Amino acid sequence: QNARLTLDPSFTVGPINRNIFGGFVEHLGRHVYDGIHEPSHATADDEGFRQDVIELVKEMGVSTIRYPGGNFVSGFRWEDSVGPREERPTRLDLAWHSTETNQVGMHEFASWLQKVDSDLMLAVNLGTRGTSEALELLEYSNLPKGTALADQRMANGRPDPFDVKIWCLGNEMDGPWQLGHRSAEDYGKLAAITARAMRQLDPSIELVACGSSSAHMPTFGEWERVVLSHTYDVVDYISCHAYYEEKNGDLGSFLASAVDMDSFIESVVATADHVKAVRGSSKTINISFDEWNVWYISRFENVDKIEGLDNWPVAPRLLEDCYSVADAVVFGNLMISLLKHADRVTSASLAQLVNVIAPIMTEPGGPAWRQTTFFPFSITSKLAQGSVLELKLDAGTYETSDYGTVSLVDAVATHDDATGATAVFLVNRSQTEETTVTIDVAALNGFSSVTAQSLYDTDVYAKNTLEEPERVTMKTNTSAKLDGGAVTITLPPVSWTAVSLA
Ligand code: AHR
Repeated sequence: QNARLTLDPSFTVGPINRNIFGGFVEHLGRHVYDGIHEPSHATADDEGFRQDVIELVKEMGVSTIRYPGGNFVSGFRWEDSVGPREERPTRLDLAWHSTETNQVGMHEFASWLQKVDSDLMLAVNLGTRGTSEALELLEYSNLPKGTALADQRMANGRPDPFDVKIWCLGNEMDGPWQLGHRSAEDYGKLAAITARAMRQLDPSIELVACGSSSAHMPTFGEWERVVLSHTYDVVDYISCHAYYEEKNGDLGSFLASAVDMDSFIESVVATADHVKAVRGSSKTINISFDEWNVWYISRFENVDKIEGLDNWPVAPRLLEDCYSVADAVVFGNLMISLLKHADRVTSASLAQLVNVIAPIMTEPGGPAWRQTTFFPFSITSKLAQGSVLELKLDAGTYETSDYGTVSLVDAVATHDDATGATAVFLVNRSQTEETTVTIDVAALNGFSSVTAQSLYDTDVYAKNTLEEPERVTMKTNTSAKLDGGAVTITLPPVSWTAVSLA
């Protein structure tokens, strides 16, 4: 197979907003407790945070981190998680049928964020709570001083405000599983009232209205239209959530998951722009793709579920998916999809970070290691600089049962005018054939070298595990050649590749 790409710096999709390299930490399973926080671990710092995990999160280059949920937030009382630890209440977490000890809360998490060089993105509870509690949390977080709540924050050891810029107005309120789930009409009204009130307190914040929890929800499309018709003037983003998994052994469809993500994004953009047109508004609503990943949800539904009135474990093993090479190739392709829509996807959060559907795994008292999905994230976050270029791609196709005829190759290119840094990210979805890609870079003169690294394996289901944590790593792709105005590179079957030009 052969494919061709043409890059031209005169044609850009838009600048890359670093917020698209965000993550998500939910109080769920062993994410917080036994994941990022394990006071008895050999690498624990004076606050009980595992420093081996901190190093890995830093290596990933994660910008903003959404917290504390997820489904968890819809039953969360934020005030339980601040103040002296020994006075914090132990609560039921209905979302994950677990016990929340509140030993890690707002202050501890903000301190951890400083250690990993990331910014806080907070979600407010619009499931079991409302406008007043959202206002209280905002006041506690962002008001410098001089009110009961700001002073309480100072007394709790934080003189400066948390200064949280991006706020999610609830989580997945379209989902029947969500505590406080409601109709688009009811959620839209509550979100608008809450957004208006929060802006009255702090006009500098950015707000995310809940979009659909997946493009396959029965209310998809209509949900966004109704919610935005209530909230358009007072929010900045509408959220998208999407998870993909290989189903029934259909690897071909799974490898094309980004086709679904592309059309999800484009449909939400169209819906938001429809509301804009109807309202005659000059404002544009962008997308916060604040949950995306590969997730074997069917496994959670069949194996992981916890039940029983007397069974509410602390930090149980939940959603601990172990990712294969094929999963990482799809994952890398999802990042390509986010980048291709950089003009409208200006915030995104990988769900999640540690142990729970995560690129980083830990064992209590033991090591931390990189899952296969760690690599596409860390490399894309590092190499994608400047703007996304509009790309002309000419490649072969194949048939899938889920998405019809799809391209065998997907790609995106980024270029930084200031430094000249240029990168191309590619996937080869063929299960059997290599693809040799010619990348025309004549319009970007002056390169003297090309380097490339690929993720692939003869066993597409190879994984990194506790026993074999480095079974899958990136490999230098020695086929990459720069010859005048063109790069040629051969992509192995089922592979994700990053090309860097200097
Ligand atoms: O990321 C896991 C869960 O997926 C989140 O809690 C929820 O928002 C989504 O359904």
